[in-house]
Amino acid sequence: MKSLQDIKSVSVRVLTPSDAKAYLFVRLSALREQPPAFGSLPEDEPNLCETAVRLAQSDDRCFFGAFQNEQLVGIIRVSRYDAPNEKHRAYLAGFYVLPSFRCQGCGRALIHEALSWATHTPGIRRVNLTVVTQQEAAIRLYQSFGFRIYGTEPETFSRDGQFYDEHLMTLPLNSDNDRNAQKHDDMVG
Ligand SMILES: CC(C)(COP(=O)(O)OP(=O)(O)OC[C@H]1O[C@@H](n2cnc3c(N)ncnc32)[C@H](O)[C@@H]1OP(=O)(O)O)[C@@H](O)C(=O)NCCC(=O)NCCS
Repeated sequence: MKSLQDIKSVSVRVLTPSDAKAYLFVRLSALREQPPAFGSLPEDEPNLCETAVRLAQSDDRCFFGAFQNEQLVGIIRVSRYDAPNEKHRAYLAGFYVLPSFRCQGCGRALIHEALSWATHTPGIRRVNLTVVTQQEAAIRLYQSFGFRIYGTEPETFSRDGQFYDEHLMTLPLNSDNDRNAQKHDDMVG
């Protein structure tokens, strides 16, 4: 468990096009991590201009960044599904904290803000995500917010001759979620 001092040093805010360069640095670190946490490839990542466009404000998608001493150290994206008959669902993706800033509360603070965005966006009632089965820290963190595993896809992607499975996780946005948000607010005082 982190001290209150550690948790207070983390700040989380919505990212904008002016954060594109810092975002791209963290995002590429995420895609190069071993063992892989993501199926996307660094060479397919949008360039700086395209990244800035992606970070522009949208009603259906939001990028959050965790900062320590004004340095972007962690990222998460929450997006609403596109189809009119799926807009009641959102998904979390691109969740990552730079290795030297882990275990200091950045991840928890990012999920808290992403779930708060989903909770306050009218019509969203469920949040989904997928996570590589080896990413135990992430799975434990998701479970602490109430996400449960409802399936496992075998061999979702391959890298360097190895195959990686992914868990599918889901969280209905209900009073349990509100309780978790309250727990976080109590921790950060
Ligand atoms: C998952 C990740 C974002 C967590 O970031 P973080 O800033 O270290 O998370 P926090 O410090 O907020 O930790 C929150 C909780 O995660 C769990 N956790 C974090 N690091 C852990 C570790 N090394 N081992 C076990 N559990 C861990 C703990 O339950 C911790 O709870 P606590 O606050 O009661 O101590 C980070 O480990 C990471 O970037 N991992 C690689 C990418 C990844 O797996 N992304 C998910 C893709 S779906």
